[in-house]
Amino acid sequence: MISAKMTDALNKQLNKELYSAYLYLAMSAYFEDKNLKGMARWMRVQADEEHIHGMKFFDFIQKVGSRVKLEQIQQPGFEWSGPVEVFQEAFEHEQFITKSINELVDLAMQERDHATSTFLHWFVDEQVEEEAIASDIVQKFNLIGDSKGGLFMLDRELGSRIMGAAPNNV
Ligand code: FEO
Repeated sequence: MISAKMTDALNKQLNKELYSAYLYLAMSAYFEDKNLKGMARWMRVQADEEHIHGMKFFDFIQKVGSRVKLEQIQQPGFEWSGPVEVFQEAFEHEQFITKSINELVDLAMQERDHATSTFLHWFVDEQVEEEAIASDIVQKFNLIGDSKGGLFMLDRELGSRIMGAAPNNV
């Protein structure tokens, strides 16, 4: 059994992961509307992965005998100035999630909650990956600048992303 405080913090992270899925779905819809189908696909795969992250929290909370509490999910954005702004926001969002995971790890350590600490290890590693991928894409946008050809090629590259294989598909 984990503490009520830890349960509450894990439920809040569950909400953040589901919001992440919602945010990336909104970004996918934005790209679809702009006919950038590769980027739309990349964001959709990202959203699916965030849902899986959320479900990892959902399952863990129940496995340790606590109760899941679902709360309202924040409304994501709808309009962006262009693809660069979308991926910049995605990168900043991942930095926010990393901070949140680190705070959870701190709390688990304070509480000497080894089960939760071990569970969170996967997320610590995952966030290193997530930030690196998002940062890499932002840098690619910086390289291509205003080039329409570059945008077309990046769209094609991002569209090759497949579920669970993100590091090789940016
Ligand atoms: Fe589940 Fe992208 O952090």
